[in-house]
Amino acid sequence: MQIPSLPVSDSPASVQFDFATGLFTPFVDVVERRVNDLQEMFHDQAAVGELLAGDNPVVYEIRYHPFLTTTSDMGLGVTRIYPGQIGIEYYMTKGHFHERTDQPEIYFCVRGEGFLLLETRAGDFEAVPWKAGTITHIPPLWAHRVVNTGTDLLVFVASYHLAAGHDYAPILARGFAQIVVEQEGVPQLVPNPRRR
Ligand SMILES: [Fe+2]
Repeated sequence: MQIPSLPVSDSPASVQFDFATGLFTPFVDVVERRVNDLQEMFHDQAAVGELLAGDNPVVYEIRYHPFLTTTSDMGLGVTRIYPGQIGIEYYMTKGHFHERTDQPEIYFCVRGEGFLLLETRAGDFEAVPWKAGTITHIPPLWAHRVVNTGTDLLVFVASYHLAAGHDYAPILARGFAQIVVEQEGVPQLVPNPRRR
């Protein structure tokens, strides 16, 4: 996120989260990701093209609130992934590595169901089944992407250091080892065709 001249405070601070909507207030920034922001990341490019020719729907949105003190930089992000598919592939986040190699993150799924995909640069891969209440520690060096396989919003809370940074390039270039698609009415993990 862009960090304009944000207030620095060494006092405790709170925001209020609404479990029914997945929204919280106050927030400082909101980023909307539409199909055009993710278009290279989905397997079915014909389906991507149809959506781009149509209303280019929102896939997910993130609301951010930074907590800056004179000695620390904690970030809070809440992501709402809409239910949907592009072709047979479920809506998902872009996914990223952290630029800094010493930076972990906590993800807390508060609504919906899906998968958290995790992969190292060396190719170790894990797909964690996710539902409301699942909290996952993402160690440093693991790229992370969330996939919504449900028929409702998937909402998750992220807590991280703003200094961690985001590296999207490897994900843009290669994706994750597996993609999540609907087959015979149920979510399935299948090898990423781009890795062949
Ligand atoms: Fe992250």
